[in-house]
Amino acid sequence: MARTPFVCGNWKLHKTVAESLDLATAIKNSVAPIRDVEVAVAPVFTALHAVGKRLEGSTVALAAQDCFWEDQGAWTGEVSVRLLVDLGVKYVIVGHSERRQHFGETDASVNHKAQAILRHGLRPILCVGETLAEREAGETFGRIAAQLAAGLVGFSPEMLNETVLAYEPVWAIGTGKVATTQQAEEVHAFIRAQLRERWPTTADHVRIQYGGSVKPDNAAGLLSQPNIDGALVGGASLKSDDFLGIVKYRLSK
Ligand code: PGA
Repeated sequence: MARTPFVCGNWKLHKTVAESLDLATAIKNSVAPIRDVEVAVAPVFTALHAVGKRLEGSTVALAAQDCFWEDQGAWTGEVSVRLLVDLGVKYVIVGHSERRQHFGETDASVNHKAQAILRHGLRPILCVGETLAEREAGETFGRIAAQLAAGLVGFSPEMLNETVLAYEPVWAIGTGKVATTQQAEEVHAFIRAQLRERWPTTADHVRIQYGGSVKPDNAAGLLSQPNIDGALVGGASLKSDDFLGIVKYRLSK
């Protein structure tokens, strides 16, 4: 099953509008000739509009880092999927471990958000991953299975088909401790097997990104694994050269 690799930069809470535009321009220009890897960037909310305009006509897709599931109303501080559609956003990250850890994100809220994203015709990048304590206690697969089961409640095959999953071991995010290619592939294969049980005809079409200290020098090893279909990149997405080194991972093989 040929799945187009998908690399998304998660800029987290970094960069002003001007800084975001500089980075977006550099990425847009260098990614232009690349056709065999899909690329997206997820700036802070306040830069989404400007970056979206800058990326118009390019192959780089616009992504948001989070969203709220109601369209509008008395929800102070929230940003709805409807408003993201208005900005030309294509992908929305949901369930990132930082949101689960610091902002009370639950599997149920992840599911509400993913459903809203799909209802509006956008695509969720749904993150799952175990903590170090869970890995050391031998609970990795149980944790991932639970996050998938609850996060994907009510999904039809068509909904799953529009969804990207991201496996991000919490202990590898921003720590420099990348999972070995074997550790990552083992969990990716497990995720696909879980999907196959519920959606046998769709599971092989779904892209599963790896995230957690992906850098230009480890991207090729990770992305050449059979079930690793791209990367969700934090730290290394903030410098265009590093990000492009990951996007062009095939050249360093
Ligand atoms: P990192 O972050 O690449 O800085 O480890 C990945 C992520 O949180 O998506």
